Amino acid sequence: MVFPKLVITIALILVLFLFICESQGASYASASHNAGHGADINTSLAHQKVNLSVYYDSLCKTCAKFIIEDLRDIFGNNLISIVNLQLVPWANAYVNNTNKSISCQNGPDECELNSLESCALNLWSKVDIQYQFVNCFEFLAIKGTIKEWKEECLNQLGLPKEPFLNCFNMGNGTELGKTYINQIAQLDPPPSFVPWVVVNNQPVEKDYANFAHYVCKAYRGVVVPGVCNTLLK
Ligand SMILES: *[C@@H]1O[C@H](CO)[C@@H](O)[C@H](O)[C@H]1NC(C)=O
Ligand SMILES: *[C@@H]1O[C@H](CO)[C@@H](O)[C@H](O)[C@H]1NC(C)=O
Ligand SMILES: *[C@@H]1O[C@H](CO)[C@@H](O)[C@H](O)[C@H]1NC(C)=O
Ligand SMILES: *[C@@H]1O[C@H](CO)[C@@H](O)[C@H](O)[C@H]1NC(C)=O
Ligand SMILES: *[C@@H]1O[C@H](CO)[C@@H](O)[C@H](O)[C@H]1NC(C)=O
Repeated sequence: MVFPKLVITIALILVLFLFICESQGASYASASHNAGHGADINTSLAHQKVNLSVYYDSLCKTCAKFIIEDLRDIFGNNLISIVNLQLVPWANAYVNNTNKSISCQNGPDECELNSLESCALNLWSKVDIQYQFVNCFEFLAIKGTIKEWKEECLNQLGLPKEPFLNCFNMGNGTELGKTYINQIAQLDPPPSFVPWVVVNNQPVEKDYANFAHYVCKAYRGVVVPGVCNTLLK
């Protein structure tokens, strides 16, 4: 009885060993494949955009100002061509774990606007539409005409109302908020103020108005937008 057990054990160990060798071999093979093709690496780098994430609260004035005045430029100077822009509302919101409700820094109106923006960001994946929408909301927020949010921006941009209002009315914007809040909780270091601007995982801290400079510096591609030549001179 001892002998077959031993054989089975050895066989199992062998199989496991072979399996490990196989998978390591595969990863070595792919590493050396890449190393042998420098051009492939450079080509893929050339297409790698810079991640630009903006964590903000929808009723924060400095955030609105940043979004409306500074961020807008990337669509005019074509910096957007080398950027993956991610707008993340709910920066200073938190979930009360007792009753699962969300509280926002600037009160319930801000939670409402954060929800509306979350619905827009998730319904429309094109970044220029996302930006125009958030820009429209933030503009109204600064103006103080906050209750016109839902209708006015949809009308301005000519976007369909129904999916957007469904998302908001069904509470999906708030659910999305919980996802954003989780995402923000993973940030290292955590945001210490807003707007919190992060370029390829590196916060630019108080220098956020110069974010474009950091984007250009982080970019490794070959098709450099003209604005970077100016900024990095
Ligand atoms: C790839 O880029 C690096 C620096 O970014 C450069 O040193 C290297 O020569 C390039 N390789 C090829 C094959 O172009
Ligand atoms: C969370 O909600 C519960 C129930 O409404 C409340 O008693 C508690 O004070 C809240 N906690 C915080 C940190 O706001
Ligand atoms: C949850 O608790 C907060 C206070 O932390 C309160 O303002 C809110 O109304 C509560 N929400 C629900 C659904 O009970
Ligand atoms: C809202 O969320 C539910 C469940 O996650 C989903 O089935 C539904 O399609 C969403 N509705 C909208 C309008 O986003
Ligand atoms: C940008 O973000 C994507 C997805 O989150 C990630 O896969 C990629 O590695 C990031 N790029 C850089 C240069 O950090």
